[in-house]
Amino acid sequence: MAMEKQYDLEVNVFNWIEEKLSPKLCTSEEFIYNEMESQSDFSLPIIYQPFDSTKTFHWTDRGALFDFLYSTYGEGKKLLDFGPGDGWPSLIVAPYAKEVIGLDASLKRVDICTQNAERMGIKNARFINYEADTKMPFEDNTFDGIMAASSIEQTPNPKKTIEELYRILKPGGRLRIHYEALNAYKNGQENDLWIAELDDRSCKLILFDRNIEDEYVLQYGLTIEMSEEELTKILSLDNDVSFKQVTIPFLEEIESKIVNVQVCKTIHPSGKTFVSWLKEIGFKEILPSYSGRFAAFKLFEQFTDEERPKDLDSIDELIKRATKVAIELKAPIDMDPMITAIK
Ligand SMILES: C[S@@+](CC[C@H](N)C(=O)[O-])C[C@H]1O[C@@H](n2cnc3c(N)ncnc32)[C@H](O)[C@@H]1O
Repeated sequence: MAMEKQYDLEVNVFNWIEEKLSPKLCTSEEFIYNEMESQSDFSLPIIYQPFDSTKTFHWTDRGALFDFLYSTYGEGKKLLDFGPGDGWPSLIVAPYAKEVIGLDASLKRVDICTQNAERMGIKNARFINYEADTKMPFEDNTFDGIMAASSIEQTPNPKKTIEELYRILKPGGRLRIHYEALNAYKNGQENDLWIAELDDRSCKLILFDRNIEDEYVLQYGLTIEMSEEELTKILSLDNDVSFKQVTIPFLEEIESKIVNVQVCKTIHPSGKTFVSWLKEIGFKEILPSYSGRFAAFKLFEQFTDEERPKDLDSIDELIKRATKVAIELKAPIDMDPMITAIK
């Protein structure tokens, strides 16, 4: 009788991957951003889709635009979009600014942002690549404002990144930060998975090991020669994949199809950690505040489907006013709110 393999309960999938597959340590752009055609799955309003007044996400996206614009005092000014992904928020902010430069450590993202700007006919936004963890390619005191949307925590050394952003911001200039803190993953999402489609025949299984107390995440990436659909089928009959289904026997079953294994460590400061770093670095004023996204969400909810305005100009007027109020309202730091920091 074939002996079924027994595993020590202490050997979890992460230990197994470390031991059997010896993952290669890499930066976040090597891990994922250099590989994705679209960082947003082509979902961004204006950049990839016409504005649709019936969708909450399209309203909150306008809220985020006016949040970045007004928090940085960016109208008619020179702005940096740090880590622009597909060109967000640079490409939606550009019509209101003098000039927007997007800086990204991923060459693929810079190419995609440049293509998106060309396709949209945006002439005052350009995108620059640099090597992660090196001096940013700008003189001291270059920018009037800096927008950082879910990007500082993707860099190898977030505190050093903020020091660099401080250096290139003009005195009196304003940095607005949106970030992914880990408190939102408490109670059940410490371990998690995501399957990213790479092309028709390959996908990447990403397993998250979130250490919420210590504010960091280890992401293991298994590049697999199987379509996303095939892998999903093996994991779950009803397409409902969850971390529980990723067992050692499952990994053994697909092992021969695994062609690359990486691990990436990202540091995810909480709001409190960000505030203490910003103070240490020398920012004069720091305001954790409510966001334009939140204001736009509340506005959307106020209307019935019949009453809700449809044209973008009227919607923008409402959202602009609500956003101006929201971004000046101090928010509890335990909520990990967006933060404005003034040099
Ligand atoms: C989660 S995405 C956010 C993209 C976009 N801002 C958005 O919110 O849709 C993170 C972005 O940060 C970029 N990034 C990662 N490491 C970086 C670094 N060291 N310097 C600059 N950008 C970096 C990634 O390439 C990616 O474009």
